[in-house]
Amino acid sequence: MRRKIVAGNWKMNMSYEDGQALVSEIIHLYKEEANSEVEVIIAPPAIYLQSFYSLISKEKSFSLSAQNCHTEKKGAFTGEISASMLHAIHCQYVIVGHSERRMYFHESHEFLRKKIDATLSENLIPIFCCGELTEDRLSGRHIDIVKKQLEESLFHLPESLFEKVIIAYEPVWAIGTGETATPDQAQEMHHHIREFIAQKYNQQLASKIPLLYGGSCNALNAASLFSQADIDGGLIGGASLRARDFLEIIKSF
Ligand code: PGA
Repeated sequence: MRRKIVAGNWKMNMSYEDGQALVSEIIHLYKEEANSEVEVIIAPPAIYLQSFYSLISKEKSFSLSAQNCHTEKKGAFTGEISASMLHAIHCQYVIVGHSERRMYFHESHEFLRKKIDATLSENLIPIFCCGELTEDRLSGRHIDIVKKQLEESLFHLPESLFEKVIIAYEPVWAIGTGETATPDQAQEMHHHIREFIAQKYNQQLASKIPLLYGGSCNALNAASLFSQADIDGGLIGGASLRARDFLEIIKSF
């Protein structure tokens, strides 16, 4: 049995007060209604992480993720935050390779590989995002594109570190667009990702890695996505900003 995970990526949204209220409401609804086997990860803006820890620290199914970190431990990188700084404030996960960072901040495969190493060296778990652009899918190259993303930024890891990683497949054309991948499209890619892991490492490891789907996943479509054999949960953007919607997604397994 693989872990079931729902992660909320808030991006650069929510005021501090609204964010606190949202986390409290999600915890409240989760306790009332959800199956406690589902792990919930909340990725608010980094500046909220430390104070939100006091809200979730007693909740065993909840953890916090950063949306980004730098490759280096310390130094002259104005505005950046290192993995060790995140670890020190009890953050447990870091989203690495989100398409918005690849696109707007020009993060390369190699830079992402260094981030993966930086997170794991501080005992943080990376949630590694991969996914193709519209034109890649239209030209039938989507599976090769995702394979390359995995090969270039993740497959250098030894098995003992790779086994910690969470992977999120997020087709770029589905992020924030309201156009979700169909369950078949998502399952096809997740199946390929698991195959690639099995080829690189082994079947046993491949069968353990949580593979999340992200891209306009919402309370209405989550159940059909999560019922697919290789989909172990979701990385949720827009719908993670509303407690009721987020909870319905958590309840969709
Ligand atoms: P979305 O975002 O759910 O708003 O499409 C997902 C993501 O960017 O992780």
